[in-house]
Order: sequence, then C-alpha cells, then structure tokens
Amino acid sequence: MEFNFDTSIDRYGTASVKWNKYGRRDIIPMWVADMDFACAPAIVEALRRRVDHPIYGYSEPPSGLADATISHLENQYGWKIQPEWIVWLPGLVVGLNVVCRAFGREGADVLTAVPIYPPFLSAPANAARHAVRVQMLEANGAWHWDMAALERAITPSSRLLLLCNPHNPVGRVFSRDELREIADACVRHNLILCSDEIHNGLVLDTGKRHIPVASLSEEIAQRTVTLMSASKTFNLPALGCAYAIASNPDVRAKLKKAMAGIVHHVGLMGYIATEAAYRKGKDWQLALLDYLRGNRDLVEREIAKVPGLRIWHAEATYLSWIDARELRTDDPLQFFSDAGVGLYDGALFGAPGFLRLNFACPRPLLERALERMARAVDARRD
Ligand SMILES: Cc1ncc(COP(=O)(O)O)c(C=O)c1O
Repeated sequence: MEFNFDTSIDRYGTASVKWNKYGRRDIIPMWVADMDFACAPAIVEALRRRVDHPIYGYSEPPSGLADATISHLENQYGWKIQPEWIVWLPGLVVGLNVVCRAFGREGADVLTAVPIYPPFLSAPANAARHAVRVQMLEANGAWHWDMAALERAITPSSRLLLLCNPHNPVGRVFSRDELREIADACVRHNLILCSDEIHNGLVLDTGKRHIPVASLSEEIAQRTVTLMSASKTFNLPALGCAYAIASNPDVRAKLKKAMAGIVHHVGLMGYIATEAAYRKGKDWQLALLDYLRGNRDLVEREIAKVPGLRIWHAEATYLSWIDARELRTDDPLQFFSDAGVGLYDGALFGAPGFLRLNFACPRPLLERALERMARAVDARRD
C-alpha cells in the first residue's frame, strides 16, 4: 500500500504543543518529538469504529491487546514475555517517575548517561532522589556509555540506573556487547535497571537491530523494568498509552505500590490505537522508516556543510543531535529561532551549546528549514 508522507497537514487549531509554541510567527517547529504525519489508516479506522459507539465508560485493556503486544515483541525482537509481566501506564514519563519512586530510599542515587531526554534528569528529583550524570564518550563519530566513568560514579547509595535505548538525543542503537556491559554493571552493583525503549520501532540503519536489554539473560531480566509504547513509532503520544514490562513479581509489586491511587488508568482510545498499531501497522511503519531515512540523510548532508555546526549520525529516532558551540553565538537556540527554525535546547539534555532537530515532517518543510539555517549562518559570515 502507498502512504504519502509528503503531504503537509495544517496542525493549527488542533491544540498541538509543537505548533502552538510559536503561534503564527514564521518559525518552523522542530523541537518536541512528535511527527507531522497522519498516522496509519488502520489506526484511524479502529479509533473511528470505537468513537461510533457513543458510550465511553471506564475501560479495561481490550481482550486482544496483551496478545497483540506479546506477538509484536516476539516477532520484532524474538523476546517472549508473559501477559502478567505487563503493567499499563498512561505514558513513558509517568513510568520513569514511578520507577524512581519505587526503588531505593529518599536520597538514593539514580544514574544515567548525559546528554539525555530531560525527564531522566528531573524524575529522580521529583522522587527526592539524586540524579547522577555520567558524561557519554564521543569516539569514532558516535556516542557511547563511558563504562569507567559509570564505575566511578556508583556508590553504596546507588540503587537505580536509567538507560535510554535507542538513545534520545544521540540516536544510538546500542549493540549487544554495549548493553551487556551496562547490564552487567547493574548486576555487579545490585542496581535496578530501567530501560526506556520508546524508540524501539524507529531503527533507521538497516544493519542495526533493536535489542531489548531484558532479553539478554534471565539474570538481567530479573532486575529490569522495560518501558515501551507504540506512541513514538506510530505518532500517538496524545492518546496516552504505554507499558512497563517486568518479569520479576517483586519488582512489579513495587511498581504497582508506587502507582497506587496516583497513576490514572490508560484512556480507552490509547488502548484501541495501540492494538491496531501492533496488529495492522507494519506496512505503514516500513514506509515511514523509508521516508525518515531520506529525511535523516538530507539533514546530515546539509548540516555537515554548515560551518560551525557538527552533526552525528542518527542510527535510530527522528532526532538529530547537533553541536553548535563552534558557531560562537551566546544562544544558538535563539539564533536559529530568529532565522525561523524552532529547535530544542541541548542545555535541557545536559549539553549546553547543542541542539536537537526533529526531522519527522514533510520533506519540503524540512528543506525550507535547512535552507534557513544555512542562510542564517552564511549571512553572519558576510
Ligand atoms: C526517550 C523518551 N522517553 C519518553 C518520551 C515521552 O513518552 P510519553 O509521551 O509516553 O510520556 C519520549 C518522547 O520524546 C522520549 O524520547
């Protein structure tokens, strides 16, 4: 089936966080991580069918949803999970915050690698824990966890490690060996491993594969909470459906205790969309990945030509990570915003002077944004 990702759809008037940020100012929004593409027709159809039944009462996960999720994970990653391991959540960020509350005591250290998606840095403080930032290493044109720095950062008060794979914002798909090293450190130091794998369906490099860290061994699975959702791959973040997977009943019990009375149940439409995505979204997903690959290649080619900017290759996600420190402007975010391109500030990810660019939009719009960026830098040099 043909899907058209080139069509531009007006999102004004749809309460879009991404598009409302700049109002009607001529700034192309490329910051928050949602896509300017219509979602899969099979999902729209499933939602429409449910909307046509006019009673939206309290709901439980539809009877086929766990099965659809289990089959999806087995088909995609050869990872076999049991239905009772799944804990439904209204979002991944909720999951990160719940995990921080569930394990260790107040004041405990929560380790993560920076740069990182900002809620990894705020969730520990929300739970009266302490976020410990391990700086990632950049080598041979790619970012890696610095295992020596991680070992140095672990103390007797460390209880939890937050992993992001594929990694937002650096776009890495960690290899089996890299994952094993991180997970082995958790085993050695008795840390709970929370793995945010929301970008699992967005691996762009054809030679790379997403590996759920909990699938590496039984020993690792026993201390792991995996957070997943169909929302990033299928562009459903406003529908609020995500899940944790934990095979260890004690870990699950702690999660549920931390959620009790606070975390709201998942919305009906989120369940419906997730099941439709997993059962009927594959063709759309493959076409999306093709299109995103083209966008990514364009961004990487064009940004590499801009003096003062450095870009890393995104193996996965629709996010490019850019170093703007050599631009020698006090505020690169403002500089590009003045040029009509709204990026995300690297400082929020623990990396001042860097920028994140969301390239999940129709290619003509992306071309316009890249032209604006190149022209703004060029004009400054005149
Ligand atoms: C790594 C990561 N985790 C979580 C989220 C957000 O998840 P949710 O919208 O389900 O809270 C994002 C969104 O960009 C993300 O990149």
